[in-house]
Amino acid sequence: MKTHRIAAIPGDGIGSPVTDAALSVASASGARLEVTRFDWSCETCLATDAMMPADGIDTLRGFDAIFLGAVGWPARLPDHVTLAPLIRMRQTFDLYACVRPARTFAGVPRPLRRDDEIDLVVVRENSEGEYVDNGGVVAAGTADEVAIQSAVHTRRGVERILRFSFDLARQRRRRLTMITKSNAQRYAYVLWDRVLAELAPHYADVATDKLHIDAATLELVRRPHTFDVIVGSNLFGDILSDLTGGVTGSLGLNPSANLDPERRAPSLFEPVHGSAPDIAGRGIANPVAAVLSAAMMLEWLGEMPAAVAIRGAVASALAAGNRTPDLGGTLTTTQMTASIVERVAG
Ligand code: NAI
Ligand code: MG
Repeated sequence: MKTHRIAAIPGDGIGSPVTDAALSVASASGARLEVTRFDWSCETCLATDAMMPADGIDTLRGFDAIFLGAVGWPARLPDHVTLAPLIRMRQTFDLYACVRPARTFAGVPRPLRRDDEIDLVVVRENSEGEYVDNGGVVAAGTADEVAIQSAVHTRRGVERILRFSFDLARQRRRRLTMITKSNAQRYAYVLWDRVLAELAPHYADVATDKLHIDAATLELVRRPHTFDVIVGSNLFGDILSDLTGGVTGSLGLNPSANLDPERRAPSLFEPVHGSAPDIAGRGIANPVAAVLSAAMMLEWLGEMPAAVAIRGAVASALAAGNRTPDLGGTLTTTQMTASIVERVAG
């Protein structure tokens, strides 16, 4: 059996305990992981003036995969400083497909009144769009201050994420919904519309559909069970994946994979959620999002039986009533993790 070399970056707040949980479940699944931990956190930044050392990207390049807990400590450092290394990893390694599944689970209370099962995936364009580091400020701090932030959408970038999403839809229920705001942003998102129209005939077996982001937020509350694969730009995918976490029960359940589908660089796996400073240090973070992110990592590394075992263990632990406070329960992170580990190992 192959040993996979994993770079683990626990980060800040609940990032650390949920990373521990994910790695302990992963090792209980029988997969062989050699984990190297990097303390690239706000604490480190306050001590050394850098979130990540100058050679950080080169260091990560040698690993099979990267696992990240969460970064951010807004009371001590601005979020645009702490999040910069993560965005750099995504862009330097060209991890252009961010895959964020969201589903309902037996045993987890549904926040919406309707009881339909939800099983969807948000695919977020992860390499360009609204998150490119392009802009500037003139006359900073004066009454005449001007801030310009440019978004960059390339035909190549749009086409590859749409193809990825069509291919994913083919492995699922063959429905693809593209999210834009092409009625108001008439250059970038109209390019998305044109590329979708060009590709759709080549994927005639996939039903395609389009929504503007404002309508999408409404429809995801009104009829979330009807969605299968949802694809959108960097910003819209980011927003919608918090919403899909909300409608399925808790952001504490939602995993994500930042993939380089061409496998030129290590892919990065992390829960959708952040460092949750409001509950950090209390031992009550839900570890499920991180645990399911580890399952996505193992699947990516070719360890499908381990991934299936972890997903089964999570579903069975939740169905048996094991719940952290975000799901209305009373379990600690450690107790919730133990309930999953015992089912993976058993
Ligand atoms: P957040 O995702 O950390 O928290 C939003 C809400 O969901 C909070 O009420 C939190 O308690 C709850 N929550 C999130 N994960 C949970 C879990 N596993 N179990 C139970 N409850 C959970 O988003 P927020 O508050 O906007 O950001 C906090 C910090 O995290 C900021 O510094 C932000 O920049 C950073 N952040 C980092 C990300 C990353 O590292 N990839 C992603 C998103 C935010
Ligand atoms: Mg987000």
